[in-house]
Amino acid sequence: MKPIFIPLYPSSLFLLFVTLLVAGESAPIYSPSDDITLNCGSSGDTVSNYDFQTWTGDINSKFFPEAVGSASQVEQAPPSSSMGSQVPFTTARLSYSEFTYIFPVSPGQKFIRLYFFPATYNVDFDRSKSLFSVKAGGYRLLKDFNASLSSTVYDGYETLLREFCLNFEPDQRSLNITFTPSQGGYAFINGIEIMSMPTNLYHSAAQGDGAIYLGSSDSRYYVENNTALEMIFRINVGGSPVSPNEDTGMYRTWDPIDELYLDDLSRNLSIARRYNTPLNFARIPNYIAPEEVYRTGRTMGGNSTINKSYNLTWGFPVNPDFSYLVRLHFCEIVPNFTAARDRMFQIFIANLTAELHADIIRWTTENGKGNGIPIYRDYFVPVPILGTQKKGFVILSVALQANQDDNQTRYNDAILNGLEIFKLNDTDGNLGGPIPELPNVPPKVTSESSRNSKKKSTPMLAILAGVVSALLVLSFLGFLVFRLGRKVKDSNSSHRTTTSTMTLRSPYPSH
Ligand SMILES: *[C@@H]1O[C@H](CO)[C@@H](O)[C@H](O)[C@H]1NC(C)=O
Ligand SMILES: *[C@@H]1O[C@H](CO)[C@@H](O)[C@H](O)[C@H]1NC(C)=O
Ligand SMILES: *[C@@H]1O[C@H](CO)[C@@H](O)[C@H](O)[C@H]1NC(C)=O
Ligand SMILES: *[C@@H]1O[C@H](CO)[C@@H](O)[C@H](O)[C@H]1NC(C)=O
Ligand SMILES: *[C@@H]1O[C@H](CO)[C@@H](O)[C@H](O)[C@H]1NC(C)=O
Ligand SMILES: *[C@@H]1O[C@H](CO)[C@@H](O)[C@H](O)[C@H]1NC(C)=O
Ligand SMILES: *[C@@H]1O[C@H](CO)[C@@H](O)[C@H](O)[C@H]1NC(C)=O
Ligand SMILES: *[C@@H]1O[C@H](CO)[C@@H](O)[C@H](O)[C@H]1NC(C)=O
Ligand SMILES: *[C@@H]1O[C@H](CO)[C@@H](O)[C@H](O)[C@H]1NC(C)=O
Ligand SMILES: *[C@@H]1O[C@H](CO)[C@@H](O)[C@H](O)[C@H]1NC(C)=O
Ligand SMILES: *[C@@H]1O[C@H](CO)[C@@H](O)[C@H](O)[C@H]1NC(C)=O
Repeated sequence: MKPIFIPLYPSSLFLLFVTLLVAGESAPIYSPSDDITLNCGSSGDTVSNYDFQTWTGDINSKFFPEAVGSASQVEQAPPSSSMGSQVPFTTARLSYSEFTYIFPVSPGQKFIRLYFFPATYNVDFDRSKSLFSVKAGGYRLLKDFNASLSSTVYDGYETLLREFCLNFEPDQRSLNITFTPSQGGYAFINGIEIMSMPTNLYHSAAQGDGAIYLGSSDSRYYVENNTALEMIFRINVGGSPVSPNEDTGMYRTWDPIDELYLDDLSRNLSIARRYNTPLNFARIPNYIAPEEVYRTGRTMGGNSTINKSYNLTWGFPVNPDFSYLVRLHFCEIVPNFTAARDRMFQIFIANLTAELHADIIRWTTENGKGNGIPIYRDYFVPVPILGTQKKGFVILSVALQANQDDNQTRYNDAILNGLEIFKLNDTDGNLGGPIPELPNVPPKVTSESSRNSKKKSTPMLAILAGVVSALLVLSFLGFLVFRLGRKVKDSNSSHRTTTSTMTLRSPYPSH
């Protein structure tokens, strides 16, 4: 190996030190047994400076038998100033006819992540002509997918990541992922990731509580193994970005930008907070979400009259033809909220009552202590609730209301720490819509932070990467503060989130 010389400034030495400390040798909380990262259109192994995983080329790969994909071509991506210059986005496999990848994975629930960089790869593969469907394990994940449209809906992010969860049954010998061009169009793919996940992380356990069925009092909905999910929002509410390597081992990205989805009043009045409260995972496994998700949250404001006068409301654009699973993450992180009824509030989802007496301390109390104990609650939004709207996107709202009755609660306040929304397949096993897919609004830059290299070889590279990515993270954080005027405060200081300088594009598709 050639020696690598990097200029070391005092600040980078410090960062190096911090990075080493942070990256340490702590093992990830969850280690997937299946973890395939396939770099489509290339050969050999490459360590990505996007997520620091080792990506293996699909040329001559056992996952891509030439016989079923002989008509496809491989191309280098055109030069790009953004994520398009990172593995796995640098090369693609493209074809005007169908091609299939075959993954002999073990049975069980899996993440499937598809990575796309829509671009003009050569004269035959113009950016505007890609249009295709993707099937896997009996589900149609994408239908007439126009990657180029999906990436321009929220301009600024050139690359796309689609994440799905499905249960791979033992009677299927292999997990096949088939790309089928739509009429006149071509199909392409830059990267495929298949990863096992803890059993029933998002599917429902037979003996578990399932999800609260909205609009149907007291009934429960179970996300069964025959249902596939597509992640459409995963947000560290009131917090900072959590990059794939900072997840609990599953390489999920937690986006920080919940403000984008707040209504104007909530954006003006609510407060993003962070506390260093020690966490105790007494009620849920610690792989459910990273600690950072629970350490930060959004609350209502400083004044009970004002707190009571509005609903802290987020609105998420969704396709009304599907049902949804909404997972809300909670943790009572404010040190002096320690007893049941200290902070009791209401939750409305899609304008329906989801919780009349939300009380995190009551939900979490273990041996007389409920503070600092993370928990999550699942809610099922059936099709008819949204389906009455006209075609296109509807806004799925999540609203928290401070208790109107002062006798029920010590503080008229509410808090949310994290949120995930999944689309469930329709009765035909389809997840794709005819209209543009929902965008991930995330700043993809977030993925470039330091990681504890899991299966990497060269420590020097890892260190270099750590330094560079620490710098990137710092500058990104600086950017965020500048861009959003965000103030996420540490313990006991509470500052109004000022977002008047926000110039981000509208989160809603324009059509
Ligand atoms: C779903 O499948 C997983 C394994 O893939 C299994 O452990 C779990 O028990 C199944 N759930 C139900 C409700 O059968
Ligand atoms: C995909 O969307 C883009 C942007 O709207 C459009 O220019 C292009 O024609 C579409 N492609 C196809 C094949 O429909
Ligand atoms: C996957 O594809 C291979 C090769 O085309 C085929 O033999 C196999 O039956 C397929 N498996 C499934 C589950 O569709
Ligand atoms: C939010 O605050 C801005 C600036 O203070 C103000 O112009 C705007 O009217 C406020 N919006 C609402 C809904 O209160
Ligand atoms: C709370 O807000 C109300 C209405 O704006 C105001 O009348 C009241 O003085 C405020 N209370 C405190 C303690 O600031
Ligand atoms: C909050 O939303 C619910 C459901 O839409 C509504 O009934 C309630 O009046 C709202 N509360 C406030 C304070 O606006
Ligand atoms: C927490 O307790 C401190 C000291 O007792 C008090 O100053 C502060 O206002 C309390 N915070 C809240 C949110 O009630
Ligand atoms: C909830 O009600 C608001 C208006 O009060 C509306 O704009 C929104 O679309 C409704 N959301 C759903 C999912 O029905
Ligand atoms: C709250 O308690 C006070 C004093 O006990 C009582 O006068 C009032 O009616 C109660 N309010 C409600 C809404 O129950
Ligand atoms: C209103 O909410 C804030 C936090 O968002 C909380 O500190 C405060 O105690 C609440 N006001 C009252 C009087 O309950
Ligand atoms: C998802 O599709 C399968 C068929 O592939 C079907 O059995 C299942 O009921 C569907 N799930 C939902 C929520 O409709």
